[in-house]
Amino acid sequence: MCGIIGFTGKSEAQNILLNGLASLEYRGYDSAGISYFKDTGKISIRKTVGKVKDLRAICDDENNSTCGIGHTRWATHGGVTNSNAHPHKVGNVSLIHNGIIENYHELAENYDLKETLISETDTEVAAALFNKLYDGNPEETIQNVVKLFNGSFAFCIMFKDHPGIIYAIRNVSPMVAAYCEEGSFIASDLTAFINYSKRYFIVPEYHIITMTTEGIILKDLEGNTVEPEYLEVNWDVAAAQKDGYPHFMIKEIHEQPEAITRTLSPRIKDSLPDFTEDSIPDEFFKNCSDITIVACGTAMYAGMVGKTLIQSMLQIPVTVSIASEFRYEEPVIHENSMVIVVSQSGETIDTLEALRLANQYTKKTLAIVNVKGSSIARESNYVLYTHAGPEIAVASTKAYTVQVASFYLLACKLGLVLNKIEEAYAKDFIQTLQKTPKNIAAVIEQADTVERLTKRMINAQNAFFIGRGLDYTLSMEGALKLKEISYIHAEAYAAGELKHGTIALISEGIPVIAVATQKHVYSKVISNIREVKARGAYVILLSKDKELTDSSICDVHITLPDTPDAFTVFNSVVIFQLIAYYASIGKGLNPDQPRNLAKSVTVE
Ligand code: AGP
Repeated sequence: MCGIIGFTGKSEAQNILLNGLASLEYRGYDSAGISYFKDTGKISIRKTVGKVKDLRAICDDENNSTCGIGHTRWATHGGVTNSNAHPHKVGNVSLIHNGIIENYHELAENYDLKETLISETDTEVAAALFNKLYDGNPEETIQNVVKLFNGSFAFCIMFKDHPGIIYAIRNVSPMVAAYCEEGSFIASDLTAFINYSKRYFIVPEYHIITMTTEGIILKDLEGNTVEPEYLEVNWDVAAAQKDGYPHFMIKEIHEQPEAITRTLSPRIKDSLPDFTEDSIPDEFFKNCSDITIVACGTAMYAGMVGKTLIQSMLQIPVTVSIASEFRYEEPVIHENSMVIVVSQSGETIDTLEALRLANQYTKKTLAIVNVKGSSIARESNYVLYTHAGPEIAVASTKAYTVQVASFYLLACKLGLVLNKIEEAYAKDFIQTLQKTPKNIAAVIEQADTVERLTKRMINAQNAFFIGRGLDYTLSMEGALKLKEISYIHAEAYAAGELKHGTIALISEGIPVIAVATQKHVYSKVISNIREVKARGAYVILLSKDKELTDSSICDVHITLPDTPDAFTVFNSVVIFQLIAYYASIGKGLNPDQPRNLAKSVTVE
């Protein structure tokens, strides 16, 4: 939700800010803006509705300022207009904000700010309040003002009478910073300045950052200086670029074999799961009576696959909860319950709050997270990092498959520790899992076929994904992918459930993507597919059956690699991702930046 960047240093700021914003654009792309100190000590703003390229077009070629802040917006309060775009400027203060100030109405009222406001945003109220309470000392003002805010925020603030300096503070909303040869950087995430530094630190909550050309000073709210804890990433700038692909999404689809290998390799010793490097002791798995998986969106659907696998393999009860619901429920969790939270970004606010709640009930909390050092990773008792590398496209692809792969590792480990599976079975299971990258690569080779068949779908208003068992849980991710980037309404159904209502929606030509890879329900699902085919559906069938030629079953058959039933999910989902991608570009859309969405959801 919203991307923010600040830079002060030796080089000209404008290009650094604009390039940084282009990298952060996946976080929000309604409007964009920058503000910067001019030679005269004045602060200037350029902002516009639209994308970073539209902002670039209105920026001053002669701008040689070396200090500025930039923002790309995902609208929360107030429509998509120029005046609602950030930065906001009130009197002495110009600032950018990611988050929501929940009590902005009261603040505007209580501090008599309404007169000065020209936008509908909570952010402008914050700017007006900083300005109103400004006493010439930025740090003191920030200390006093942030105590008045309810909600989440990451602010970068410039005070007119302190040229060349950027102040920043955050609560919940993410922010990372770095000082390097070029100068001082701050941003929502590292992709904004990875060109300049692979070393960075996570800005601790409620700490004031003061950035100058000489360095960054970090202080707590009592004014004590705190040493930043620097981290280093092992990916480079190319990982955050399209690298010749037309979109990030298709690049990330292609990266899946490598991402899975990176995630699995450090955790497999002698063909058995090993979490030594993650410092997760076997003790953690002992006495586990039940599991609750909590996440949002795609991460939650990865959890659905985890649930189906763990329950059938280990007969341990598993519940999957939507994080935004879980956090307002009375969770049925006790000390032997394991809670697994799943998140690519590690910053999704609902998942983070759900984790905080779970931590009150059990010590057995584990996060499956992609972004190193993120809030969810830090607040969970144990972390299993997925090594997908940066995922830029809003639609999650490689993050999903590595999350699912992590569940396979966990299931195996849990089974061994709880004596639910034999070592020989575990070895065989892990060796099959290790073949996943090769199988996915083979599936990706079918991209042209998928592109061709998807052409039949692009004018559809609705589509269905059906399957049974693992194929059903997986179908939920297929439906989400298609909805979010092609805007075709799609739903997943357990194939056996269709005749209890949904089949009424099947009409001539409606696309049904059916998956039939699970032997124990194969004949049942084939019967269900015949039922929709008989009612005119355009059926795309995914199965392992090489001999399937019966045109009464389907219109198109995609043959998946011949893997054991428990492992077909990795192959089927890649076909789903490709269907969604080609449906999106077939409709002339940008799959990387679907409407109304943003990558990292840090507001409730
Ligand atoms: C995936 O395609 C989505 N854009 C979305 O559902 C996402 O998975 C969800 O918001 C959770 O994000 P997280 O993994 O960063 O927590």
